[in-house]
Amino acid sequence: MQVLLLGGGMIAQDQLLPSLYQLQRQGRVESIEVCSLAMDILEALAAHPKIVRAFPDVPPFKPTVTPYPELIAAMPPRQLVVVGLPDQLHYNAVMCALKHDQNVLCVKPLVLTVKQAEEIEEEARGRGLLVATEYHKRFDDRSHMARQRYRTGQFGEFKLGTASLFEKWYYRHSNFQNWFTTDATDAFTYIGCHYVDLVHFITGLKPVSVSLYGLKDQFPNGKTGYLWTDARVIWENGAALNVQNALGFPDAAPGSNTQGLTMYGATGEAGSWIEHNDRYRGISYSIVEPVSGGGQTQYSEPSPDYFTYVDHGGPGLVPVGYGYRSVAYIVERAIELETGDRDLNGRRALLKQWDDAGIMATPANSSFNEAVIEAARASIAQDGATVKIASV
Ligand SMILES: NC(=O)c1ccc[n+]([C@@H]2O[C@H](COP(=O)([O-])OP(=O)(O)OC[C@H]3O[C@@H](n4cnc5c(N)ncnc54)[C@H](O)[C@@H]3O)[C@@H](O)[C@H]2O)c1
Repeated sequence: MQVLLLGGGMIAQDQLLPSLYQLQRQGRVESIEVCSLAMDILEALAAHPKIVRAFPDVPPFKPTVTPYPELIAAMPPRQLVVVGLPDQLHYNAVMCALKHDQNVLCVKPLVLTVKQAEEIEEEARGRGLLVATEYHKRFDDRSHMARQRYRTGQFGEFKLGTASLFEKWYYRHSNFQNWFTTDATDAFTYIGCHYVDLVHFITGLKPVSVSLYGLKDQFPNGKTGYLWTDARVIWENGAALNVQNALGFPDAAPGSNTQGLTMYGATGEAGSWIEHNDRYRGISYSIVEPVSGGGQTQYSEPSPDYFTYVDHGGPGLVPVGYGYRSVAYIVERAIELETGDRDLNGRRALLKQWDDAGIMATPANSSFNEAVIEAARASIAQDGATVKIASV
């Protein structure tokens, strides 16, 4: 499997590239090319100390600033395009890959409208290709524990829930201030989608309406964004999920952000409760030197679960965590699809099996996420009016 990664930014550095390198180390991926707008971004990515330390034995990726349509057109068919571009560029990149018979892994959100998601689904189904959206919370084992127990009835029926994900304050000083403006996005659209997706993943329920209230705040460069949001998502059984998001968790607080999910449910006779603290995962460190910048703290509570490197005896280090597992799972499915001699019907049957299993987010089983985003954007423009979510 040859891989073309589009985008050399934060998510490429923190999760996508090291996961792909590990798959290359295992012989699952043959080659990696990374495309970005500028060569200096790619040089910085290649020279990132953690990546250099972890993969001394893996051939470096091929950097390129050639426009991605040319690169995709030159690939042999049925390889893998990994889309790690800004949200509003996903649609064109995914469609370009599909039209050249490539499988696709795309970071969340797949696209920004239901119509675009439907077009992608049709194109992928027509050609028997895989499109997967990388919602990595689906590969956190605690999500699977809750899902399995919910699906066997141990929690009864979901009634009320609260979720939150607050990024640290310093995000306001990053490149976010150039694109995270009120006309383009908001804190819920950017990050709240993870918990909407997760509640569906656990319960199988679909959302039916949303009310999104946002507080405007100014970035250091004077641009205005909805930097604090409060959403109420109503589900098809009448349940309600409150989701709060912001770029506002104090830089002085431990952990790289704060996040978690609480769900209350019931049968006719008894109540149930699910509590996921997704920030504090039981580790506390206090190191000898003060640290500064990037929300770093001398006392910290790091998460071992999302993405970290461990020493398994070398060479280099091994990436572990649900961020790695999520990428590996999708790449393995693309390899599976391309192994053997399936005709179009055989490919479609395998893809349908994955759509129905619902472990991996695909346009066929997860377009409700685009429907929520579309409705939420309409709601925030009306100060939190309730907006119906299109049924998909
Ligand atoms: N928790 C998560 O799931 C999570 C976290 C972070 C980011 N993301 C998603 O990942 C995507 C990228 O986010 P990021 O934080 O890495 O952004 P970023 O701004 O750090 O990086 C974007 C990269 O895309 C490149 N790029 C832009 N236009 C391009 C083009 N036409 N051709 C080639 N390269 C181009 C830029 O040069 C840059 O390297 C977004 O969709 C974001 O929502 C998801």
